Amino acid sequence: MPDLFSDTDTDDYENQEHDLSRIGISLPSNLLNSFDKILNSRGYSSRSEGIRDAIRSYIRYYKWMADMTGIRQGVITIVYDHHQRGLIAAITDIQHDYMDLIQASLHSHVSHSRCVEVLLVKGDAKNVKSVAERLMAQKGVETVKLTTIPLEG
Ligand code: NI
Repeated sequence: MPDLFSDTDTDDYENQEHDLSRIGISLPSNLLNSFDKILNSRGYSSRSEGIRDAIRSYIRYYKWMADMTGIRQGVITIVYDHHQRGLIAAITDIQHDYMDLIQASLHSHVSHSRCVEVLLVKGDAKNVKSVAERLMAQKGVETVKLTTIPLEG
């Protein structure tokens, strides 16, 4: 049984996909409904194929995060539920912990319960990643998207 997470080459695990494992997972039904809608609109033949693709993107994203080094300029986009108890305070606390890294922030009220916040960051990739990961780990945070560019080159 290949260990997907220890492979360094994307093609490797994609080539090993004849070796299938079956898993059972529990999901909130609204999450599954949203996922199914996307699968429908994109023409997926099965939910399993959609989940495989989602897991591949997740792995690719984390590998990219792990490979990111040096001084970076970046943007972190956070979408969150502002009705989640304690979340705004937690997000603010995290930003204060990284005040030397965060150059600017922009907040917009998307709807009655959702907010989007965009952080402009510049600093060591290690710190850029850790602020993104800490934000992502908060309950009520829907998505955290990080894009960066190296300063040299
Ligand atoms: Ni807001």
